[in-house]
Amino acid sequence: MATTRADRARRTVLTFLATAGVLLATGAGSAAHAADKAFTMGFAQVGAESEWRTANSESIKSAAKANGVTLKFSDAQQKQENQIKAIRSYIAQKVDVIAFSPVVESGWDTVLQEAKAAKIPVILTDRGIDSKDPSLYTTFIGSDFVEEGRKAGRWLLENYKGKGDVNIVELQGTVGSAPAIDRKRGFEEIIKTDPRYKIIRSQTGDFTRAKGKEVMEAFLKAEGKKINVLFAHNDDMAIGAIQAIEEAGLKPGKDITIISIDGVKGAFEAMMAGKLNVTVECSPLLGPQLMETARAVLAGKPVPKRIVTKEGIFPMEVAAKEFPNRKY
Ligand code: AHR
Repeated sequence: MATTRADRARRTVLTFLATAGVLLATGAGSAAHAADKAFTMGFAQVGAESEWRTANSESIKSAAKANGVTLKFSDAQQKQENQIKAIRSYIAQKVDVIAFSPVVESGWDTVLQEAKAAKIPVILTDRGIDSKDPSLYTTFIGSDFVEEGRKAGRWLLENYKGKGDVNIVELQGTVGSAPAIDRKRGFEEIIKTDPRYKIIRSQTGDFTRAKGKEVMEAFLKAEGKKINVLFAHNDDMAIGAIQAIEEAGLKPGKDITIISIDGVKGAFEAMMAGKLNVTVECSPLLGPQLMETARAVLAGKPVPKRIVTKEGIFPMEVAAKEFPNRKY
């Protein structure tokens, strides 16, 4: 078939966009390193709020060691200003690459522009950012949080046995964080397809056990036996809430169906004890992939702009069989 002038023009535009995309993803223009050269990474961690986060920090530290990477690691104690300070200090120290898991989604443009001006590539891990400028980071490695919320919602619709209205209470993650925003969105997208399912209370438990327990106590005080389901944005808050439910004289996993996210060992133990109904997996073991990706970026190799972690879902019926395979 003959090629028209329009076809040729379209192809030129596509070639230009593809090249621009690769340049953007590799961070080309910044100093390219040899693939096998030792490098220094500054990592700004969210905090130590959950079992998941502990496993994530451990994965990053051990992968750095195994790959001969000099790691500068900081803990922001769930505060954005601490993460910004840490990133600025990594820029001042002229590290080769900066990686971080943003506490919240917005408010990163200024500090990331500073990293860009210093020609230091930035890799996002675990959580994404809300920015109009995709050139501020090279790639984002982590889970699809919206899909995790959908998985939780689908499990509920397919497995809930009770009749009539289903009253749900929701323990949200840290306000403004990507997992809290996206998991809520994915879960609501699914449950709104059946008008029986209603979220009657929703509040943040900041991803911690202590706050999960405290907020669940308040939910129980306000709603009592009306509560049929708890959707917790992470396992730690679900574990805290289980304690509150037991202290209120109810049976977690039976009187109240409990759904959470992460798949940490503590959640498997709760499932084996019949107190948690299901956990949606969110893998914290991102260290090896982060080191490999950083090396590729520094060598000027093209990397995808988004690397999504593969994950499953574990209901209580399979917990005992799966437990020995769990790595976090
Ligand atoms: O960003 C991942 C979330 O952060 C995990 O689900 C939660 O446990 C953690 O604190």
